[in-house]
Amino acid sequence: MTDRAEADTVAFEIIDRVAWVSFNRPEKRNCMSPKLNRRMMEVLDELEHSPDVGVLVLTGEGTAWTAGMDLKEYFRDTEAQGLGGSRKAQRESYGWWRRLRWYQKPTIAMVNGWCFGGGYGPLFACDLAFAAEDAQFGLSEINWGILPGGGAAKVATELTSFRRAMYHSLMGENIDGKTAVEWGFVNEALPLDQLKARVSEVANVLLKKNPVALKATKDAIRRVREMTYDNAEDYLLRAQEAANSYDNEGRKEGIKQFIDDKTYKPGLGAYDL
Ligand code: ACO
Repeated sequence: MTDRAEADTVAFEIIDRVAWVSFNRPEKRNCMSPKLNRRMMEVLDELEHSPDVGVLVLTGEGTAWTAGMDLKEYFRDTEAQGLGGSRKAQRESYGWWRRLRWYQKPTIAMVNGWCFGGGYGPLFACDLAFAAEDAQFGLSEINWGILPGGGAAKVATELTSFRRAMYHSLMGENIDGKTAVEWGFVNEALPLDQLKARVSEVANVLLKKNPVALKATKDAIRRVREMTYDNAEDYLLRAQEAANSYDNEGRKEGIKQFIDDKTYKPGLGAYDL
């Protein structure tokens, strides 16, 4: 298949409040074309505030999670349209990664295979990440003559040490899923045939947490990384007050079940929603 329709570049299904979203160009190792980037934004839009969805998982069809940007359709074809063409393609890709970074629902990257270059954008955008042990992660930009742009260099330095980020991006060598855990790219690595079960398990835990607290928490963890201690303290105070203002009932229920009903302990699990 050479020309997959835009609508087919992303697949998704909702099962028990988990949205399983897939890069769906397996014949092109799920590399990100402008069509795929536009379609992904539409899919994220459709799922974000749906009451049927509590957690979003991003995975890939076939042997790849994503082979990064489509060197032909994203780079060569858009560059042929001049600077305006490149900028439009960049807005479309960076746009959905940013949308995913601040998504309303918790997100999990389920990295089933290849993950290259531009793929580091959505990898970092997902709140949690689980990989197949045999998945391969690479900043291959250096291998075809560019720097790790589109946020990839930033992601590497956010997730791993300076020395590792430098080696990874200068050498163009891949690391496997287990090394990706050691480097901090992903939470866990598992044999491929156990990956989906583990991600389902994690998603099901998240589904039982207070959704307002989940959104406030994921944003807090991302925001405070760039703040001084005092600024973080202040931000967190205000973020909690803002969350309280539209989640009075959930929080009060959490306190009640612990203090009055004694039906759970917050240190050991979540209250019944
Ligand atoms: N851009 C455009 N086409 C791609 C890309 C890509 N990033 N990745 C794979 N494809 C295409 C191939 O050209 C091939 O197309 P064809 O069937 O029309 O010939 C098809 O997908 C299958 O790819 P193969 O290379 O045959 O698959 P294989 O499983 O042998 O190898 C691998 C997989 C290692 C991922 C290889 O495809 C590859 O190196 N891809 C490029 C990875 C990369 O460096 N991406 C860019 C990162 S930098 C950035 O994103 C800014």
